[in-house]
Amino acid sequence: MEVTKKRICFICLGNICRSPLAEGIFRHLVKEAGLEAVFEVESAGTGNYHVGEQPDRRAQAVARTHSVRLSGRARQFQPGDFGRFDHILAMDRENLDDLRRLARTETERKKIQLLRDYDPEASDEAGVPDPYYGGPDGFERVYQIIERSCRGLLKALC
Ligand code: 4NP
Repeated sequence: MEVTKKRICFICLGNICRSPLAEGIFRHLVKEAGLEAVFEVESAGTGNYHVGEQPDRRAQAVARTHSVRLSGRARQFQPGDFGRFDHILAMDRENLDDLRRLARTETERKKIQLLRDYDPEASDEAGVPDPYYGGPDGFERVYQIIERSCRGLLKALC
């Protein structure tokens, strides 16, 4: 049977902490649900500072404690990516605004949302906090927020 794929891209600033975690967690949930044939999952950053780098060691460590594997190298979101994805999920308000500035049409604009719009515990317009300059506690907290949001997103898309 032909399946129309749902193509998802998670976006943060550097593409080394939050969005690789979201990509890994969402892929893990998709696999658990047996929906690998339905979803294509990637991530990217609005900035180019870390292009080519592996996910931050602290993000890899927290993922490992939850049996989630992170993969890929950081890349910068390109305007051409709007055509490659159906849903573009920004980690925070700044990422959302940056993506909106890159969108050239209403169709592209409509693909962009905040990931925490799918977090049942979030207040309006909440973002995933940037853990880069904090300690490991920050990464566990970010993991929990992203996991809750990804569960909500998967439910909404199924
Ligand atoms: P991310 O975290 O956007 O979740 O990948 C950051 C990574 C790097 C920097 C900031 C946030 N930085 O300033 O280099």
